[in-house]
Parts: sequence; structure tokens; C-alpha cells
Amino acid sequence: MRLTIFGSGYVGLVTGACMAEMGNQVVCYDIDEGKIARLNNGDVPIYEPGLDDYIARNTESGRLEFTTDVEKAVGHGLFQFISVGTPPDEDGSADLKHVLAVARAIGEHMDDYRIVVDKSTVPVGTADKVKAEIQSQLEKRNKSVEFDVVSNPEFLKEGAAIGDFMKPDRIVIGTDNPRTTELLRTLYEPFNRNHDRVISMDIRSAELTKYAANAMLATKISFMNELSNIAERVGADIEHVRVGIGSDPRIGFQFIYPGAGYGGSCFPKDVRALAKSAASEGYEAQLLDAVEDVNNRQKQRVFEKIERHFDGKIAGKKIALWGLSFKPRTDDMREAPSRVLMEALWAAGVKVRAYDPEAMGETKRIYPDQQGLELCESAHDALEGADALAIMTEWQEFRSPDFATIKDALADAVIFDGRNLYEPNIVEHFGLTYYAIGRGHDIAGNSNFGRRREDKIAQER
Ligand SMILES: NC(=O)c1ccc[n+]([C@@H]2O[C@H](COP(=O)([O-])OP(=O)(O)OC[C@H]3O[C@@H](n4cnc5c(N)ncnc54)[C@H](O)[C@@H]3O)[C@@H](O)[C@H]2O)c1
Repeated sequence: MRLTIFGSGYVGLVTGACMAEMGNQVVCYDIDEGKIARLNNGDVPIYEPGLDDYIARNTESGRLEFTTDVEKAVGHGLFQFISVGTPPDEDGSADLKHVLAVARAIGEHMDDYRIVVDKSTVPVGTADKVKAEIQSQLEKRNKSVEFDVVSNPEFLKEGAAIGDFMKPDRIVIGTDNPRTTELLRTLYEPFNRNHDRVISMDIRSAELTKYAANAMLATKISFMNELSNIAERVGADIEHVRVGIGSDPRIGFQFIYPGAGYGGSCFPKDVRALAKSAASEGYEAQLLDAVEDVNNRQKQRVFEKIERHFDGKIAGKKIALWGLSFKPRTDDMREAPSRVLMEALWAAGVKVRAYDPEAMGETKRIYPDQQGLELCESAHDALEGADALAIMTEWQEFRSPDFATIKDALADAVIFDGRNLYEPNIVEHFGLTYYAIGRGHDIAGNSNFGRRREDKIAQER
């Protein structure tokens, strides 16, 4: 089948490459000329495991092309996928200007029947706006061309996007036309062989399903972060609590990790946009507002721990920072907790020696010439000359470090772990003080887990 994908970002490139992999003819279009030029030179502008191989193989076979020629893009595909960004508007609602720009372009250039498939995450009612925009462009041209608009939200996870796309948990198809559902079903057939994953529904429900999924996942995270703050105050260990509740199959182990808050291009903006949609219909979504508030507060937690450890005297300190991307296996730093930490540290006069396995280029792009930021070659390099270590992303290479080396390198042997990567007993065995999330007393006036253990060891001696 012939497909056009509008927007060559995380979703567009993965969709295009995986669709081409199954034998379809795919044209990826983007307004960013630099991005398309890089793709045409065989350079993949984002880090997503496995994506470069898929793109190389399919461009070589002639099934995948990249273009900035909008006429060619609209002329190519029976299916016109929209996978452009839907960033938050100033008031937090989803900004539809890119989605509607694509609708306009399709209306301006289409001459035959088209199925416009919305993969971007968009508020309920957007399909109607896309339809109206296309229709108005056709009317301007005095054209009468049939088309359908479908909601087909994307559920891939950055870092595992190829696997998610090739073997999806579900393929949600929202249409008001059974014939279109069947055409989409045929397109997705190669991804749907083992058992039927297609869930078809009306367009509005499909649009809401995507927000519901992200809001649910964000709620799980904020719930655990809320509990971790309670655990610190009452002297419990959230990691025991996590295992204790996860063993209940109604709760489950997935997605109940406490940490430094969620980031990324989806959860923060989608929770906000859903709350805004609700508000614009006169409904105050209290739970969603709380999920966001808890998350914003949680993103400050590691900074607060650092500040408290040094009794507020942090100006002039140097912090080694491991992990910049909002989660492992991606270079995406949109709304990453590491950014909140770094910006708070800089404001307090602290220098940061940062390292991330994939997000160094992105950090340089976001913070060009940033005072107080040194980008380091390796995790070990970041420790050199630092007072303390903070960890903000759970990359695998940070999971079993050489604690003796860390202790020797740091002026003040202390780790602030925003991802609960280590067993406190082991870290402390090496003479390091260890602050994690929700593990032992760690509020003003109380000694933290690490200090309490040090006192205990001193007493035993
Ligand atoms: N990133 C994810 O993990 C993920 C997962 C599921 C859904 N989504 C949703 O998918 C959508 C895209 O997300 P993304 O992360 O791929 O965004 P992205 O920012 O990585 O990519 C968007 C691309 O669209 C391009 N673009 C903007 N206007 C355009 C236009 N008029 N015509 C053609 N291209 C245009 C931009 O130049 C950019 O390359 C968003 O709505 C997002 O919420 C994202």
C-alpha cells in the first residue's frame, strides 16, 4: 500500500520505517528541511534503538523516501498519516497548529480519495476540525473529492518503539465508516497476525483512549511518588512497599517505581491537555490536577536533598550528574527531571559535570554555552573534581558502578539517587552516604538513611 507520513519525528519515523519494513511504499514528509536533508544523507536525527537499521534497509530497497515536497507527499499515499507534534499551548491545552497545517496542505493538494489517519495525540473533537479544514480547502479549489478522517492513536514507547510498533498491544481504530476500518485493518494485518489486536470504536472514544492511557500511567507514577514522600516521613522503605503492593495482581508490578518524577514529550503535556479539555467542558479534573502537581513537586526532590545535605551551603559546589534523557534508551530531554535539577543547581551557583550515554548532543542543543555546565566523556569522567553524584536516569550502565572509585573521586562521598538504583547497605558499605527516593527518614530535622547507618556503625565500633 502507499502511505504518506506527515512529521518525521519519533512517531513518524518509526511508523514510516515499520510500514516500509512490511513491504509498503512510504513517503515521509517534514517541514524541517535540515531534518529531511540529514535523513536523505543516511543520518537518523534521533536516537531510537534499531531505527537506523530499519531506515537504512528500507531506503536502500526504495520503499522509504523522505521529502519536503508537499505536493508529492499528498499525491503519494492513499493513507495520509498525521504524526506531527501537539505541544502544549500557553494555557496547557494541546496546540493543534501543526495538525491543522497538515490538514490544510492535504486539502490544498489532494485530487483523489484519501484516508487521513491521525496518529498525533489530539483532544477529542480534533478529527472534526481536521475534516472541516480539508473540506474548506477543497471548497476554495471548487473540488469535490471524497475523504475519511480516522483516529489511530499511537502507543509506542520511546526506547522500545520498534518492538512496540511491530508487535503492538493494541491497534485502536476510531472511524465513523466501516469501510475505512476494514482498509486500516488490512494495512495493519502484518502487525496483527498472532491474535487480533484491533480495537475499533467511534472517533471520539479513540481520541480519548490515548489520553486515558497516558493519564493512567502518569497517575501510577505520581501515586508512588506521593507514597515515597510519606515513607520518608514515617521511616518506611518504599522499595519494600512497592514489592508488597505489586504482588497483588490487581495492582501489579509494572509502572509503580518511585523516582524523580515523570518527564518526556507525552505524560506531562497529555495530563495537562486532558485536564484543560475537561475544564473547557466545565468539569474540574481534580485527580489529573493532583497528578501533575505531585509530579512537579517530585521533580524538585533531588535538589532539595542536595541542598539539605549541604545545609544550604551549596554555592560553589560541583555535582556530577549521571543521566540527562527523561528515561533510558532515548536521547529525548523534553520535560526531563534532569533539566529541573540542573536549572535549580545553576540558580544556586552550583556547577554540573554531566554525562549521558545518548543525550549529550541534545543537552548541547538545549543549553548552548551554558555557564556552570561541563559535558563529560564518560560516567567516570563526570566524577572528576565533583563534590557529590546525582543520578537522574536509570541507564543500564549506571546500575553496577564501582563504588570504591566513586568514593575516591568525590570530595564529599555522597550519592543522590533519583531512581533508586542501588541497595543502600551496599553503597554504605563503601563508605558513601546514600540518599534515594522514599527510603528511610529524609526530611528536615531527621537524619537520612545513610547518616543513620553511619551513626550505627560508629556506635558499634
Ligand atoms: N514520542 C512518543 O513517544 C509518542 C508516543 C505516542 C504518541 N506521540 C504523539 O505523536 C505526536 C508526534 O510526537 P513526536 O514525539 O514524534 O514529535 P516530534 O517533535 O519528534 O516530531 C514532530 C515532527 O513534525 C514535524 N512537523 C511540524 N509541523 C509539520 C507540518 N506542518 N508538516 C510536516 N511535518 C511537520 C516537525 O518538524 C517534527 O519533525 C505527538 O502528538 C505526540 O504526543 C508521541
